[in-house]
Amino acid sequence: MKKVFEPIKLAGIVFPNRIIRSATYEGMSDKDGKPTEQLLKKYTALAKGGVGGIITGFIGVNQQGMSTGYYMSQINNAESAKGYKVITGKMHELGTPIIAQLNHCGGQTKEEATGMPAIAPSKIADYKAREMTKAEILEVIEAFVQGIKKAKEVGFDGVQIHMAHGYLLSEFVSPRMNRRTDEWGGSTENRFRIVKTIYEKARKEVGNYPIIVKMNGYETLKNGMTIEEAVKIAKLLEQAGCDGIEVSNGTVKAGLATMRGSVPWEMMVAQNKRLNKMPKFIKRLIGIAATKTFPQPQPKSLYNLDAASSIKQAVNIPVIVVGGITNLADIEDIINTEKCDAVSMSRPFIMESDLVNKFKAGKQTQSKCIQCNFCIIGSENGPLRCYYGKLPARLS
Ligand SMILES: Cc1cc2nc3c(=O)[nH]c(=O)nc-3n(C[C@H](O)[C@H](O)[C@H](O)COP(=O)(O)O)c2cc1C
Repeated sequence: MKKVFEPIKLAGIVFPNRIIRSATYEGMSDKDGKPTEQLLKKYTALAKGGVGGIITGFIGVNQQGMSTGYYMSQINNAESAKGYKVITGKMHELGTPIIAQLNHCGGQTKEEATGMPAIAPSKIADYKAREMTKAEILEVIEAFVQGIKKAKEVGFDGVQIHMAHGYLLSEFVSPRMNRRTDEWGGSTENRFRIVKTIYEKARKEVGNYPIIVKMNGYETLKNGMTIEEAVKIAKLLEQAGCDGIEVSNGTVKAGLATMRGSVPWEMMVAQNKRLNKMPKFIKRLIGIAATKTFPQPQPKSLYNLDAASSIKQAVNIPVIVVGGITNLADIEDIINTEKCDAVSMSRPFIMESDLVNKFKAGKQTQSKCIQCNFCIIGSENGPLRCYYGKLPARLS
């Protein structure tokens, strides 16, 4: 059997193969953040489709950290526990490990979504949020610790702390976004202090339960994370007791640096009630302007691999790479040459839940995803689905 399809123990978890579903916001909870039957079906399809493991779409640790997306899940909510127990039980029946991604959206959420002012390590032009007080930093640490404890109680195989994509913890570690002059900002060690403290406190509650991290290996914006800085942070993560690292890049301000491909302007215009009423040619002009305005970093495939393999060489914990991985040949090369321990994918699995089974059976070597990115815009207003570059009937 090819190495990529062999079972492997990473971060203390046994994965049936090395192709993991990266966290992908599902928008399949109810208005209180409780997972629904639809979410269970989604994970069941992925598990039956052969994924090596599932990292859930981000789950909020508290109300202030909830996202602007459609019906986000919440971990620290008594009602959610029942739903998660059903989900984790089903995944274990199917032999697929499931990891809860825990997040606080920080400056990248809005008061209209959470009912509370948005907060961030520093007040900067990238988003509308005020600087957090020291007391608020301690509250957020506690929310993560409680979330990790809850994830263990409800049967998740581990948690992934979201420290990527410009959300709160990513804002703390980023030299661009953290401008604090107290003990929570400045040096790399100070910017990392919030995550280190989460680990210290969580270990007292959950022992050696697997706690991995998703981090930016670099950021494309001025003064953002460099690969060298990311390597330093990865070493600090290892020292703090982190069990594994998934490497990504980007922030909301950096446009589609995280999920590269087409600028989904048709979907953006269609979902905006005011713009959608305009004549077709004006919409088209808006589209051209949007395509020109949004930064489009290159390349569009394997764009986190250099950063991930630099991190892999610097640490002794497992490293997973995500971003623009679409074909089996690339996956085999990454695994066989030990550039990383495993790969993860998001968009390919939105389109084909059974892609791993198809790879394994030799039926297909390439994902059919066209990277139209309609899925990411659609997740603001409806549950996760593949649009395959076509506007849904309700919007066209
Ligand atoms: C619809 C959608 C939702 C996403 N939600 C999350 C999320 O909840 N947490 C996260 O860390 N990344 C999220 N991502 C980013 C993916 O995990 C991944 O890092 C990125 O899409 C690049 O991988 P890909 O080329 O395989 O899609 C999302 C991406 C998409 C397209």
